Amino acid sequence: MATVKLTINDQEIEVERGTSILQAAQQLGVEVPHFCYHERLTVPANCRMCLVEVEGGPPKPAASCAMACGEGMVVKTDSPMVKKARKGVMEMLLINHPLDCPICDQGGECDLQDQAMGYGFDRSRFHENKRSVTDKELGPLIKTVMTRCINCTRCVRFAEEVAGTPVLGQLNRGEDAEIGTFVHELVKTELSGNLIDICPVGALTSKPYAFKARPWELRKTETIDVMDAVGSNIRVDVRGREVMRVMPRLNEDVNEEWISDRTRFAYDGLAKARIDRPYIRDANDNKLKEASWDEAFAYIASKLDGLQGDEIAGLVGDLVDVEAVVALKDLLEGLGSPHMDCRTDGSRFDPSVRSGYLFNSGIAGIDEADAILIVGANPRHEASIINARIRKAQFERRVPIAVIGEAVDLSYKYAHVGTSLKDLKKFAKDYAENVKAEKPMIIVGSGVFDREDGEALHAELHKIAEDLGCIKDGWNGFNVLHRAASRVGALDVGFIPQAGGRDFTGILEGTRDGAIKAVYLLGADEFDARAHIGWKTFTIYQGHHGDHGAARADVVLPGAAYTEKDGIYVNTEGRVQLARRAAFPPSEAKDDWKILRALSEVLGATLKYDTQVELRKRINKEFKLIDRVDEITAEPWAKFGTKGKVAAGDFVNPVSNYYLTNSICRASDTMNACSMEFKAQNEDYLEAAE
Ligand code: SF4
Ligand code: SF4
Ligand code: FES
Repeated sequence: MATVKLTINDQEIEVERGTSILQAAQQLGVEVPHFCYHERLTVPANCRMCLVEVEGGPPKPAASCAMACGEGMVVKTDSPMVKKARKGVMEMLLINHPLDCPICDQGGECDLQDQAMGYGFDRSRFHENKRSVTDKELGPLIKTVMTRCINCTRCVRFAEEVAGTPVLGQLNRGEDAEIGTFVHELVKTELSGNLIDICPVGALTSKPYAFKARPWELRKTETIDVMDAVGSNIRVDVRGREVMRVMPRLNEDVNEEWISDRTRFAYDGLAKARIDRPYIRDANDNKLKEASWDEAFAYIASKLDGLQGDEIAGLVGDLVDVEAVVALKDLLEGLGSPHMDCRTDGSRFDPSVRSGYLFNSGIAGIDEADAILIVGANPRHEASIINARIRKAQFERRVPIAVIGEAVDLSYKYAHVGTSLKDLKKFAKDYAENVKAEKPMIIVGSGVFDREDGEALHAELHKIAEDLGCIKDGWNGFNVLHRAASRVGALDVGFIPQAGGRDFTGILEGTRDGAIKAVYLLGADEFDARAHIGWKTFTIYQGHHGDHGAARADVVLPGAAYTEKDGIYVNTEGRVQLARRAAFPPSEAKDDWKILRALSEVLGATLKYDTQVELRKRINKEFKLIDRVDEITAEPWAKFGTKGKVAAGDFVNPVSNYYLTNSICRASDTMNACSMEFKAQNEDYLEAAE
């Protein structure tokens, strides 16, 4: 690798050729103030805040973000010339800036505020009126105060380069220059909240968070998101026990520094429709009535009394932590029940081989792939962050992408090569003969398994992955894209039908034909329980929101949401991550594993752990999860799926509404507003197109 040596502020450094002076200074820990430069975006060099002096170069300050390091360069970032230039730039930037820090939501975490203090001039020589710019309507998520905009164009570049929705642009010239959409349009991307982080000033801020809090009032907790199976690293900011906002944390291997809009904005749903105490359904008027914990447990014990283990079943929903899953599994086993399943979307695949259900290459593996095939998935809606990585692969490296399934807008170009397994087989044959990629990748949406012959399809996909050359020494490009945060963890701890047990569909059938007389729904809200669980089956729902599960339940037990408990989650690539409590659950709600532990005692099948530490030890002993926190291991490739015929039929994407995929989103006013706004815009767009 070619390198160059240079000196910055009397310190020598050797960097890769092509590195900018600003990047080299950052490597040395030398601060160079800047606004328009962002390490993940192209370099426009338009703010001029990063000026430095290059000795022996032109007798004027140089923009360090746009100038590459040269051999023997001598750079000064703090010379009198640089200080004077920076003061000038700050003065120019502030000429038209409103300076309304006291009422600006960026106050306290604003680059302009900080840099004006650090490098600016303490007065202005400009006496004319300030210009004002009309605010733009960008939808329910982004608030704009465009007079504060410093025209750095970070938002324009983010929308175009990362999100793939080039709706923003710089309009007009000179004094009239402003950022906006060319025609009135909302910023329709599932990554739009990142515009708030990327804007260095208070021009783009969070609409739901507007005027709610100041950063220094908030208690910050680093944790894990559960809105999809990516396991994005987040920071939850709370005041009292109210979640005020959710921000991304940097994790290059998972979410880089982005999060999706559901992750960022669904938090208001945590305060709505909460189950905060136990309830028992009154047989007289069929309504849920408040009860004490003792009454609820005694009622459950009386209803389960006399039932055989074979008549009891358990289902686990999309947002549940591993501790609670294991506690329910242990309880069901203690009661003698083999009927349990975590695949409450009805999917059927072979869970016996870990590499058969993981995103084996890892999310960061997308950066290495040189050909990508997406089968039966809309990664934009199922895992927006993974979709952004796929877009990056095409944007930066021109990686060819093909799709088999529904043709939808993924924010990048792809070849639509079919809709069914037949097309997939044909593609695999043509591909094997014609294309020679070193690291091809197949991304299979978990929705393709929502069919009766899912296990046979799983076996077919095993063969196709091999035919496509996705399995090689040191490379496994067979990737299943899950949608549920709890799914891989629950599969890892074996929350699947035990010997002689029923799967999800079998359990529901059992409730209708009388074979299953009691069912335990642990956060299971992904299906319409009222329509699918037989009315004679005694139904216990444990969870945090009054959603599908609670609507059908005979007893409701209040659990904690993901921000209210410490818990283990395993993401779609098999990475074990720890979520941390940011706030306490409301009223009488408790950690899910604790509820199961307490209930087990009343049912006479006492679980053998009294603390979370003991439970984690039990989990680690059998499943070795804690030993692998924040790691992914290469799983051996082995045969999976079952032999059988796969019926004809097109792959259908499972997510019809990105904004309303789980009980927290459905309770969120912001997510409901997005659902309405973007649906309306789509309808207008389609009408106009007709
Ligand atoms: Fe103050 Fe920054 Fe807001 Fe401008 S953008 S008003 S400098 S906090
Ligand atoms: Fe930069 Fe913010 Fe203005 Fe966009 S809105 S150009 S990110 S200051
Ligand atoms: Fe270099 Fe803006 S950061 S010109």
